[in-house]
Amino acid sequence: MAVGIFDSGLGGLTIWDAVQARLPDQDFVYLADSAHAPYGVREPDDIYDLTVAATQRLFDAGCDLVVLACNTASAAALRRMQESWVPADKRVLGVFVPLIEAMTERQWGDNSPPREVAVKTVALFATPATVATRAFQRELAFRAIGVDVEAQACGGVVDAIEDGDMILAEALVRSHVDALKRKMPHPQAAILGCTHYPLMTDAFQDALGADVAVYSQADLVAESLSDYLRRHPDKKGSGQAAFLTTGDPKRVSQRATQFLRRQMKFTAA
Ligand code: DGL
Repeated sequence: MAVGIFDSGLGGLTIWDAVQARLPDQDFVYLADSAHAPYGVREPDDIYDLTVAATQRLFDAGCDLVVLACNTASAAALRRMQESWVPADKRVLGVFVPLIEAMTERQWGDNSPPREVAVKTVALFATPATVATRAFQRELAFRAIGVDVEAQACGGVVDAIEDGDMILAEALVRSHVDALKRKMPHPQAAILGCTHYPLMTDAFQDALGADVAVYSQADLVAESLSDYLRRHPDKKGSGQAAFLTTGDPKRVSQRATQFLRRQMKFTAA
């Protein structure tokens, strides 16, 4: 069975890349809703409708398990989908929790009461829609006490990355880090809370300074998903991957090839 991986655009490839490196025999179907990206400036109802349609497309492609490799969809739509839409024989997972578990020194599924953790000041960089949901702070509060979170809505960064304009993306990262530092001058840790941002890790680290621990989702989500799939060996396949887009396949293939530095071929969803 193939695992579905969904993002509004190319950011989820950072998750797919890390997962397939750990699980080379797994089959994947990746869906980029490029026609509707970015999601981060949309209203929650709109994000919900688009995410449901994309997840249904992945169910139709034979995926029983879909990973929302998009923080905006995970924050704005996942809980509502799980409560009222996901059929009993399917699973939809998000990307928030593995990262928060790593930051709060927890093993997968450790639901013990919140406790003090080493990190006390955290900078969260995410899309405007993700920041508005406060989903990160809510999930963190279930697991840790005494952590001060300052969130920075990073308008424009996803658009610049999707357009392949990395000079603009880097300039925007610097200005968002400056804005964050005006509110929290010395964060101990920074969360890249959008799956597009690992493509800009160096720019974030450089602007934040070497003493700030930058948590990026790709490896953490990949580790947690690999654990899950190892516990469900029936989902194994033969290492095939298909890449679908609701946008222009040629353009999306070019950008994906540029980001992953290997030939990527998208077809129409
Ligand atoms: N990669 C998505 C995320 O993790 C980007 C959202 C967008 O399209 O703005 O939030």
